[in-house]
Amino acid sequence: MAVKESRAKKLVAGIKSLLKSPLKKIPSGTKGDLPLVAARKDGTKITPAMLQKSAKAHLWMHFTRYSLFENKDMPIIARAEGHHIYDVNGEKYFDGLSGLFSVNAGHGRKRYADVAAKQMQELDFFPLWGFAHPRAIELAERLLSYAPENLNRVFFTTGGGEAVESAWKIAKQYFKMTGKPTKHKVISRHVAYHGTSQGALSITGIPAMKKMFEPLVPSTFRVPNTNFYRAPSNFKNEDEFGLWAANRAEEMILFEDPDTVAAIFAEPIQNSGGCFTASPVYWKRLREICDKYDVLLVADETITGFGRSGTMFACEKYGIVPDMMVLAKAMTSSYQPLGALMITERLFEPFKTGTNILAHGYTFAAHPVACAVALENLDVFDEEDLVGNVARNSAKFRKTLEKLYDLPIVGNVRGDGYFFAIELVKDKATKQTFTPAEAEKLLRGYLASAMLKVGLYARADDRGNPVIQLAPPLTIGPKEFDELEQMLRKVLTPAMSKI
Ligand SMILES: Cc1ncc(COP(=O)(O)O)c(C=O)c1O
Repeated sequence: MAVKESRAKKLVAGIKSLLKSPLKKIPSGTKGDLPLVAARKDGTKITPAMLQKSAKAHLWMHFTRYSLFENKDMPIIARAEGHHIYDVNGEKYFDGLSGLFSVNAGHGRKRYADVAAKQMQELDFFPLWGFAHPRAIELAERLLSYAPENLNRVFFTTGGGEAVESAWKIAKQYFKMTGKPTKHKVISRHVAYHGTSQGALSITGIPAMKKMFEPLVPSTFRVPNTNFYRAPSNFKNEDEFGLWAANRAEEMILFEDPDTVAAIFAEPIQNSGGCFTASPVYWKRLREICDKYDVLLVADETITGFGRSGTMFACEKYGIVPDMMVLAKAMTSSYQPLGALMITERLFEPFKTGTNILAHGYTFAAHPVACAVALENLDVFDEEDLVGNVARNSAKFRKTLEKLYDLPIVGNVRGDGYFFAIELVKDKATKQTFTPAEAEKLLRGYLASAMLKVGLYARADDRGNPVIQLAPPLTIGPKEFDELEQMLRKVLTPAMSKI
């Protein structure tokens, strides 16, 4: 009793002493010279110079090396229309990447804005937690109407990484609830990008991107991707190579113990590394392996979904039968943030009964405005047959880009649909690539700004070997392919001398 009393006295004394010396307050709202805040208040014009200064002082851009902008302006994009973007100074660029592989219907469509305004007035927001809302219900059904037949359930997120994260959690819980509680590991492919949250990043296969955040979520393992250009020369064709690559997944499952492996994550066309396609043989074998060991196949269609490959979902094109499909980016053509997972009913089954629940969700997932815009976007896809446009023109696009093979630096043109990579090499005959220092000079020292100078926004990337990637809006055609080829020719002709 006496001990208890003395403890209570000590606690009171502690509280009193804390109250006596109040927390040192940091004054708020006193930053003083904040010109953009003042201009908004006064109604005065915000100039490009003001934006530039403020961006450098306060904005933290994603995946951006800030030292590049110590002595030069950062690009500020202010407006967009069709397949063009305009910077704050009025300079016009061809949007060769659809924003971020995502504005598939092209920029500046007023009807998306109208539908968003209408939805805001009808139901601005309501979460999908214990309540549904009409647009989410409608969109779930609409997405499934384009999907492989076995998919029947939609779980919404706000983007691709969240959907990857959700797929892993669903896989883990499904196996826990169905008598296989040790199944939890994930297999993914070398150099593949699946997002930045700690689970999705753990599934990502790019060591340099993970290094600063280790230790990440344990239990993910990498197998070879389907980069046929860099495949050992003993493979006669993509089928043979595909079969070999798929078999590496089986090897990994056996090595790790099938009772511990829950899922394989793979993009139908792997973006990171530069648009790696795979033969249908690869996908058929991967499905066989998944069935044999009860491992779930998760098709990450964050980029390939919504027409990018020439079918609504690339799974259809390559005969992929997924247990879950990750969707994001072009679901709204990026006019609103939205992601989703389409799932087989088998995985939802155990969640239907008793007190079972998936304790997982996001405030803004299936935001009513985003769902309304997605529905409008899908109307545009259907009315303008955007997917058909890609299917009809993809071969022409490839052929136009292949004209660049006359340049010594162009080693390989690959991809599908409206999604192509041009791998740059030091020696075409031997496929010799650049050293990291040379790649640095080539990509960041030259290509990034050279492309903008000729009016092209595209990606110069070296997460694998150096590539330029193109993923333009699905609205363009042969005239624009020529334009892209001409711009790239201008940039790539002197490129070798810049190293
Ligand atoms: C294949 C793939 N998965 C996941 C993601 C992550 O999507 P988000 O940036 O919407 O989280 C991306 C993003 O580019 C992606 O390409």
